[in-house]
Amino acid sequence: MDANTFVLFGATGDLAKRKIYPALFNLFLDGKLPVDFSVIGLGRREWSDETFKANIERSLHSFSRRKASDAEAVNQFLGFFGYHVLNVDRKEDYQSLLQRVAEREQTLGVAPNRLFYLSVGPELFETIAAHIEESGLGETKGWKRLVIEKPFGRDLQSARDFNAQLSKAFTEEEIFRIDHYLGKPMVQKLQLLQQTNPVLQASWNNRYIANVQITASETVGVEERAGYYDHSGALRDMFQNHMLQLLMMLAGHLPKGDDSEQVRYKKKHVMQSLEPLLRQDVATQVVRGQYASGSIQGKPVVGYKDEAGIPQDSHNDTFIAAKLQIEDDFWRGIPFYIRTGKRMKEKATRIVIEFREPVKQLSAANNGGAPNLLVFEISPNEGIYLRLNTEGEAQQQDLTKVLIGSHKSGSDVPEAYENLIYDALRGDSSFFAHWDEVELSWKWVQPILDAYAANEVPLHEYPAGSFGPQAAHELLAKDGFEWWFDQESEAASEATNAGTPLTQEPLSIK
Ligand code: BG6
Repeated sequence: MDANTFVLFGATGDLAKRKIYPALFNLFLDGKLPVDFSVIGLGRREWSDETFKANIERSLHSFSRRKASDAEAVNQFLGFFGYHVLNVDRKEDYQSLLQRVAEREQTLGVAPNRLFYLSVGPELFETIAAHIEESGLGETKGWKRLVIEKPFGRDLQSARDFNAQLSKAFTEEEIFRIDHYLGKPMVQKLQLLQQTNPVLQASWNNRYIANVQITASETVGVEERAGYYDHSGALRDMFQNHMLQLLMMLAGHLPKGDDSEQVRYKKKHVMQSLEPLLRQDVATQVVRGQYASGSIQGKPVVGYKDEAGIPQDSHNDTFIAAKLQIEDDFWRGIPFYIRTGKRMKEKATRIVIEFREPVKQLSAANNGGAPNLLVFEISPNEGIYLRLNTEGEAQQQDLTKVLIGSHKSGSDVPEAYENLIYDALRGDSSFFAHWDEVELSWKWVQPILDAYAANEVPLHEYPAGSFGPQAAHELLAKDGFEWWFDQESEAASEATNAGTPLTQEPLSIK
């Protein structure tokens, strides 16, 4: 990895504290940071380097996946950091920043490669990118990169405008748009799993698959983000980005190796092949939901409209379920059902692939047979399960289900941010959202935004702590399917029912 300077805008903010410092620290422990490395944290607060470092150390103690107990390692890590006061609107602050960066590059012997990480609100992205260009910070003999967080626009037009602005200062190859779902280890393994398992390759198409279900359910409500969330909703907050990215990663038939160009191409193909959703069809293919009061893990919780900062007449969506179809030779005719929501029964991100059911064609005596399922548990736990039918013990003719697979609990899984920051530092954009994908995602979603805005789609209430509105179940029932694992709190619990313990070994595929 090249020596470089990591210039962090928003260094005193929440994301930096919770995610970025812990991720850098874990990369450091794994020997995945360059030896010649410098981080310059930027913020408006008049902090000294010492105050900054003390804050970073505190964040490691609170949020690092691995304990920051080795004082020597922590000190060595903190040695990378310096703080610089910067008001993002003030031109002269960028000049002094340039001086600071250049000085550190010289004294520490760090090559002039610069990664600008914008851990700030999206309303500041354009200003900062323009100042980076104007001040000369971006005119370096080494490389420069821009890392930004979502949201990338609010609709198709604003995303296009925004991209045009950023493109004045950075090329597409230099822009790394974070979608933290792409950093989740299981999402990153989808590619490898397809490539290394002929059995998956052979069955990864409409000949064997009946439907695909992608769920990201959360138990949390709107939390302290009313101001943002009430203008965003599940559609903008989760669906347009995280959920469609999961779809692309799953359906993309991704190539071998680290060829980010190829990955971009395959993902783009999925989005281009998605059957467009017409505005008049939104009400039948999309379910819009909002949580009412209910209970989460036995505790009563209020409904969305009674959350602090949410207007009583809010029509905002906290849940969405949609049916999508990909028009290509692999997937033609296979429904993809995608849903995401807040205040649902469990916290789980999971993909279930339901295979066609040959058992139905066997004799009626085959009680208990059920479709084969391939399940990817993405987070908070990680696992892959295959559900097969086998002979039951009691009566020879009966079938029983066995689940084979492997499972890892949430705590020993590397954080998405570790993977993504590592890739950005290496310049590998395979697991970032490329402009084509972002644009095509907004394009697909735009009729839903329009239909919601015109209130053409019913808003279904669902009790907090449920699996979402009844209408989301009907969406599948119309096609003769149902959401898997809604009756049980976790897919993994089915293993116990089937009497076959899961292997507790960590996945050995990496
Ligand atoms: C964020 C959304 O992008 O993802 C949040 O803004 C959501 O509303 C979060 O809670 C979910 O992420 P994860 O990794 O917990 O599934």
